Amino acid sequence: MLEARNLHKAFGQVRVTNDVSIAVEKGERRVVLGPNGAGKTTLFNILVGELSPTSGTIRLGGEDVTGHSVEARAKRGLARSYQKNNLFNDLTIRDNLALAIATATGAASRMGDTLRDPAIVERIEEVAARVNLRELLDQPVDSVSYGARRQLEVGLALATNPRVLLMDEPTSGVGPEMIRAFHDLLKSLPRDLTVLIIEHDMDLAFDVADQVTVLNYGEVVFEGTPGDTRESSLVNEIYLGGSVDA
Ligand SMILES: Nc1ncnc2c1ncn2[C@@H]1O[C@H](COP(=O)(O)OP(=O)(O)OP(=O)(O)O)[C@@H](O)[C@H]1O
Ligand SMILES: [Mg+2]
Repeated sequence: MLEARNLHKAFGQVRVTNDVSIAVEKGERRVVLGPNGAGKTTLFNILVGELSPTSGTIRLGGEDVTGHSVEARAKRGLARSYQKNNLFNDLTIRDNLALAIATATGAASRMGDTLRDPAIVERIEEVAARVNLRELLDQPVDSVSYGARRQLEVGLALATNPRVLLMDEPTSGVGPEMIRAFHDLLKSLPRDLTVLIIEHDMDLAFDVADQVTVLNYGEVVFEGTPGDTRESSLVNEIYLGGSVDA
């Protein structure tokens, strides 16, 4: 469903992505691990088209999308959420979701129409229920808790009804209760949705993952099942045993 081959990316002299290849099957849940600065977010930025790789190719559903824009990839079903919130703080949660849908469908200039379209209204309610924001739909983002904003961040990506969903540290900075709620959300996603997730919470990561990819200094240094990952001395050395700030 999503395949990257031999991706390289350098910022000036600094190589942050070094010959990364990753192939994720339809419906797979792939967790990406790695220490701070390993190149996880950079990899996501390249996959969705926010950054161009210096070299390498990306295929989405079998189609080469390497030169395609973020919007073109989004239209083909690729969505991502951000490590740092990427929200319109003075708009309501409902309007943020409507805008995400309008942008994905190319109807951004017709925001009012979007909110009157019954199918979209229903979609907004559905996504809000999934991410536990139904009660807060008409609250401005800047009036809700940090945890609710993290949930909305994921909701925005889900709202576009993607085939492939990339989530960058969705639980960063939230408490155990919200991590559990997020865990439930992941478990409840449609089985044919392909999910890549950068996640520092090991219990969550190992429970949801079919496969784990570990990056270190911009390279894939390990790939395997959660069980293999737990037992890998290499992974333990560079990641699990090291200083991880979750
Ligand atoms: N636009 C940029 N210009 C220059 N260097 C960058 C840029 N973006 C990222 N980097 C560098 O690339 C490296 C990888 O960064 P990246 O954000 O991908 O790491 P990460 O694995 O997501 O880390 P974290 O766990 O802290 O989120 C870091 O050394 C970072 O400083
Ligand atoms: Mg990151």
